[in-house]
Order: sequence, then structure tokens, then C-alpha cells
Amino acid sequence: MLQWTTALSVGVIEIDSQHKELISRVNNFLTSVEDHKGPEEIKKLFGFLQDYIKYHFSTEENYMDHYALYGYSNRDRHKAEHKAFIRDFTEFKKDIDFSGADQLMIKEFCEWIYNWYVLHIQKTDKDLAEVLKKSFPFMST
Ligand SMILES: [Fe+2]
Repeated sequence: MLQWTTALSVGVIEIDSQHKELISRVNNFLTSVEDHKGPEEIKKLFGFLQDYIKYHFSTEENYMDHYALYGYSNRDRHKAEHKAFIRDFTEFKKDIDFSGADQLMIKEFCEWIYNWYVLHIQKTDKDLAEVLKKSFPFMST
């Protein structure tokens, strides 16, 4: 299971709350696997996670495109990280749709998403958040 810690806070209310929702959807998916739910339920929860990831990335990218022009120079690299995430996520989705969530796949998925969210949130998203907070102090936690 993934866990929210204060070290993961980027200090922007909206982004923090979306990251928490992401963690909760990852955990709902993992719980369904642990509880041996049927393949349809597992697929459905993975789909809910996918929907939210797309929504969350579009929130951040919207800020990058329209608001964070005040010294945010990392836009292309940040978007590339999102794109790479979606590409890898889609591979896991294919595995789940075609052969279900076996143990090896789940193990790989957990390691992958844990590393990604720690690295991406703590570095890339924090850099974006710093610019947003400077430009729009009301967004800060
Ligand atoms: Fe991001």
C-alpha cells in the first residue's frame, strides 16, 4: 500500500489533495487484488485509477501552460515525465485486461508506482509548486 506522508506535500492545496486521491485509488486497486476480487472488479478499479491520473496530469499541465509562466522552465521535461508514466501505465493496463493481475505483475506495478510517485512528487511536482506558490500565494497550504 502507498502511504501519504508530509514529505510528499508540495504545499499547493489542490495538487496535494489530488495526490492523496491518487494514492487512495492505487490502494483501492491493490486491496481488490489482495481480497481476490473478480477480474471485472479489478479492471474497473484500475480504470478508475487511470481516469484520475489523466485528470490529475491535465490539472498540472494546465497550470504549466496557463499560469506558471513566472519562471517555470521545466515544462517540457515535466510533460515528458507524465507521458512516460502514461506509456508505462498503459502497459500494465494491457496486462490486466488480457491476463489479469498476477502476483509478479502486481509486484512490478507496486515497485514502479512507488518509485515514480516518490521521485516525481518530491522533485518535479515540488519545483512546479514552488513557482505556483510564488505567483499565487493563495494556492498555498
Ligand atoms: Fe507532475
